[in-house]
Amino acid sequence: MSTRPPVSDWATDWDHLDPRWVEDPYPIWDDLRQTCPIAHTNRFGGAYLPTRYQDIRAIAYDTQHFSSRKVAVRDVHPPNDRGAPPITSDPPRHRLARLVLLPPFTPAAVETLRPGAQAICNALIDAFIDTGGCDAAAEYAQHIPLKVMAHLLGVPESDGDRFRAWINATLQEGATDQPALMRALEEMTEYFRAPMLERRKNPGTDLISYLVQQKYPDGRLLTDNHVLGSVRLLLVAGVDTTWSALGAFIWHLAKTPEDRRRLVAEPDLIPTAIEELLRAYAPVTMAREVVAETEINGCPIKPGQMVLLSFPAANRDPAIFPDAERVILDRRENRHVAFGLGIHRCIGSNLARMELAVALEELLRRVPEFGLAGPVTWSKGTVRGPRRLPIRFG
Ligand code: HEM
Repeated sequence: MSTRPPVSDWATDWDHLDPRWVEDPYPIWDDLRQTCPIAHTNRFGGAYLPTRYQDIRAIAYDTQHFSSRKVAVRDVHPPNDRGAPPITSDPPRHRLARLVLLPPFTPAAVETLRPGAQAICNALIDAFIDTGGCDAAAEYAQHIPLKVMAHLLGVPESDGDRFRAWINATLQEGATDQPALMRALEEMTEYFRAPMLERRKNPGTDLISYLVQQKYPDGRLLTDNHVLGSVRLLLVAGVDTTWSALGAFIWHLAKTPEDRRRLVAEPDLIPTAIEELLRAYAPVTMAREVVAETEINGCPIKPGQMVLLSFPAANRDPAIFPDAERVILDRRENRHVAFGLGIHRCIGSNLARMELAVALEELLRRVPEFGLAGPVTWSKGTVRGPRRLPIRFG
């Protein structure tokens, strides 16, 4: 139950934590795009909300006026020493933090993880296939990227419940609850400190071992703080994003039988369909802090304010995507921005695409017929996706 004052006017008082936005944000953005393409609110210490593709694109590319040192519009912000490079870094420091993370996520590196992802999906399906239904968010989508990431980082999958609690505290409760955010950041940092120190002495083949061996241009190894920040980022950015996208895709297929049956009949269409579903249900909304006065589309933008960078709103702009509100599984022209734009564009897009494809292929192969079986609830804040998604089979 929200205790926030209800929004009186989306153009001058918007709030992305308002229950109406959480339930269905698309009509709000469609309306603002027509009537007030750069909305503003005095909430959160003051924040702008652009809804047109071109404006969102211009901001994402402009690192001179828009900083990533704060990447969420929230009531409270984590302290600077709890940054998560490269996502919270600006040029010139951003470049190195990003470069060290690229090799583990190339298409070839990700391909080696495919058989493991297939096994994870099938074990999850085995557990519910004979029960006639499941919560596709809690019993399926949430586990797949979490298990893959635990394997990559070289930490036990059995700690999955703790990871989920931290991710939730960072991205959901943490938007309004400073103590919950700080507790999660500290617990995550302490959890990864021991394996990091151990890998400094005895490196293995996992991602933490890889990171502790990386160097700055002057030859020093990455600091503990840097390694821990990047590991926290991978856990938070690499898990909730993908499970939320997958949950939204399953939700769409549960309520749109013609699309589901088409993918069952034409599995080769799945990669193209994933791009369209990513466009339509992009899960990630970031933010920037304005650090120098500028203008976007004629609207003056003041330093000290935040900007909500809604890649999901850009993806619904009809000026770029004809019939933007419709899901067209075989849409041809589809330069969606679900993975962002510019220097911070997602590092994990190959991994996310592989996990999404495997998870849909396995589910549709083994459970080709399913529909919604009860009310669906959605997360709020940086990442949007279903948190309860009851489906019934057959
Ligand atoms: C469907 C799943 C995913 C979506 C929609 C998504 C979306 C995004 C977006 C929009 C950004 C840009 C952030 C910004 O501009 O501030 C981003 C950055 C990032 N993502 Fe993802 N992401 C997904 C999955 C992943 C996965 C699986 C990983 C793990 C490897 C990952 C790691 C990262 C990292 C490290 C960055 C920061 C890059 C930088 O700052 O240079 N993401 N992601």
